Amino acid sequence: MKKIQIINGPNLNLLGKREPSVYGNQSFETYLEELKLLFPETQLDYFQSNTEGSLIDKIQEVGFSYDGIVLNGGAYTHTSIAIADAIRSISVPVIEVHISNVFKREDFRHHSYLSDACKGCIVGFGMDSYRLAIDAILKF
Ligand code: DQA
Repeated sequence: MKKIQIINGPNLNLLGKREPSVYGNQSFETYLEELKLLFPETQLDYFQSNTEGSLIDKIQEVGFSYDGIVLNGGAYTHTSIAIADAIRSISVPVIEVHISNVFKREDFRHHSYLSDACKGCIVGFGMDSYRLAIDAILKF
């Protein structure tokens, strides 16, 4: 069975409540149940933290044994050299995802420290960004 780790960064624990006009009405926990039904043959593990170091610890923990990581770094995307270094330090491919189309938003969201360390990026498809990333990993 292939193993994929989904990692959500800061404030993504509030999906469903947080800025619903941008991020929708669904909690990630509810969406995860749908994802698990879509990929019954794949082990999907989920981790969320609001803390940069905890995200790095999880990347390192799974980064040599899983088949892929789907990472929504939240606002750390635009600030974190440390998370970019963690991605470069592991062997497992990482797909960067964003729910919103960050390129249609404020200028500070247009730059990602993570993108060039990642295998690819999926941006702007709502929660479906995560499914698209899993599909991509399963095709590697
Ligand atoms: C986000 C976009 C980021 O700019 C923002 O800070 C988030 C969510 C997204 O999924 O659209 O927290 O990563």
